[in-house]
Amino acid sequence: MSNLQQDFIRINNVSRRFQSADSEVVALNNVSLDIPRGQFTAIVGRSGSGKTTLLNIIAGLDTADEGSVDIDGQQVSNYSDRQQTEFRRRTIGFVFQSFGLLPLLSAAENIDLSLRIAGTGMRDRQQRTRELLEQVGLSHRSDHRPYELSGGEQQRVAVARALANNPPLLIADEPTGELDSTTGAQIFSLLRGVADSGVTILTATHDPFVMEHVDVVREMSDGRLLPQGEGIVTSRIIPDKRDKSVPRQGTALRPPTVPRRAP
Ligand SMILES: Nc1ncnc2c1ncn2[C@@H]1O[C@H](COP(=O)(O)OP(=O)(O)OP(=O)(O)O)[C@@H](O)[C@H]1O
Ligand SMILES: [Mg+2]
Repeated sequence: MSNLQQDFIRINNVSRRFQSADSEVVALNNVSLDIPRGQFTAIVGRSGSGKTTLLNIIAGLDTADEGSVDIDGQQVSNYSDRQQTEFRRRTIGFVFQSFGLLPLLSAAENIDLSLRIAGTGMRDRQQRTRELLEQVGLSHRSDHRPYELSGGEQQRVAVARALANNPPLLIADEPTGELDSTTGAQIFSLLRGVADSGVTILTATHDPFVMEHVDVVREMSDGRLLPQGEGIVTSRIIPDKRDKSVPRQGTALRPPTVPRRAP
């Protein structure tokens, strides 16, 4: 019981520096962040503020110089490369800005491939692929290759593929970065539904409409995670910070487990 209530992700005092020819970039400066299971969290902030670096360290794609990352009670920052790879495979679904679908495979085959890699049998793969295409509203496009799909449709397939093996965590770095605002809103609405089904989602975004879909917005600036509710980008997302009837940005807007209908 207590295990269910503990934070799903615990980031403690994480720092990451990059050396370039004649200088050092402090990409993350002593960042701490706890994320409960099932919460949909958006990291915002100017270009170069450290969002991708933070997501990569949580995902085990990069390693912190200092600090620790715990996911689901396990200190993954201490894992070997091999353990991290295995942990990622079981635990994390990824959605990228540029969709990342294999161009010669259809929508269904792209999803099927990640099930196949995980060792799922053919009959289960077919059923799961059908379910996923339905979940993202693309049953009628299952045989289309990526170039026969719109950007929004490609990203839907990418979300379906990321969810194929039921990961408890979805990491989405700028998932709407290549989409127009209406299509981007549809992707965030889709992700909202995914979070409502219990998946913890962490996204980095420049999308000003993200507030309508996520539980918590946190802002990064120069490698630091600002206190809840603070920041230049955040103040644009909720224009009138002084209006007390508007939830403060960076605070939980509602319990993450309450289902919410997609608009
Ligand atoms: N591999 C690297 N080597 C050197 N510097 C790096 C490396 N990766 C990131 N940086 C630097 O670290 C800082 C943070 O980069 P990061 O990619 O995390 O920013 P970001 O907030 O994701 O930006 P954007 O919104 O443009 O995606 C930047 O100054 C960047 O130049
Ligand atoms: Mg980035």
